[in-house]
Amino acid sequence: MSIEELKVFLDIATEAALAGGAELMSYWGNLKDIQEKGNPGNLVTEADKAAEEAIVKVLQRHLPDHAILAEESGELGDITSRYLWAIDPLDGTTNFTHQYPFSAISVGLLIDGLPQVGVVFNPILDELFRAAKGLGATRNREPISVSQTTTLEKSLVITGFAYDRRETTDNNYKEFCQMCHLAQGVRRSGSAALDLSFIACGCADGYWERNLSPWDVAAGIVILEEAGGKVTAYNGSPFDFKSGKILATNGKIHDLMSKALIEIPPLAYWDTTDRLN
Ligand code: IPD
Ligand code: CA
Ligand code: CA
Repeated sequence: MSIEELKVFLDIATEAALAGGAELMSYWGNLKDIQEKGNPGNLVTEADKAAEEAIVKVLQRHLPDHAILAEESGELGDITSRYLWAIDPLDGTTNFTHQYPFSAISVGLLIDGLPQVGVVFNPILDELFRAAKGLGATRNREPISVSQTTTLEKSLVITGFAYDRRETTDNNYKEFCQMCHLAQGVRRSGSAALDLSFIACGCADGYWERNLSPWDVAAGIVILEEAGGKVTAYNGSPFDFKSGKILATNGKIHDLMSKALIEIPPLAYWDTTDRLN
């Protein structure tokens, strides 16, 4: 894939994200249709649907041969294509319904299964993150890079909790306790795409989460890697979209965070005085 081709795809992804953002803003503070889908708390609104329609329209107009995997519509086009666009039209729907201004559109392009182009756009705060393989990463068109933090004690880390958390013991609760204990601070923002972008621009140092879908992370992975960060599974092996478990850091705390996420005491440990001794 040539740099020139990637630049074209990046511009198309940007056009799509901005079109979706305009749709989202027409519903900001003005939502009428909020429904649950699947697990409790997993919301979908008319804003998600309208933004997705606008994004898909732009992609299909420019790239009719490419496949699309969109959160609300599923697979579209020729799914055997080597080009697959993974789209989340509103990442942070819960935030959006509360008018908590931390939500984004995520438009990522996988070529032969590898993330190559990513755009994450928060239309509420007008923040645009962009990257393509070999082209670097930007925030509002200015180059960004990851933080220099090297210890967990000095790290601000981010996580999230999937909608199935009440139905599984693999719910991230013990990992959350462990990281609260070890890191300087832990945040749960409610948008995986923005979480990855914030590691990319150095505002935080590490991020982990389970049960993510390709549309949550495809764009953010490119942005973070192009900003100098590292993305793997919890144990440091290559990230697998099918597993949904991601460890994403500035690279410098990667091994420390990986170790912390693997060597976790049982949840009951946090209820005892053992940890104080
Ligand atoms: C969710 C957000 C959240 C993460 C959830 C995702 P949605 O996406 O990215 O931060 O913790 O796992 O499902 O439902 O707002 O598109
Ligand atoms: Ca999402
Ligand atoms: Ca979504």
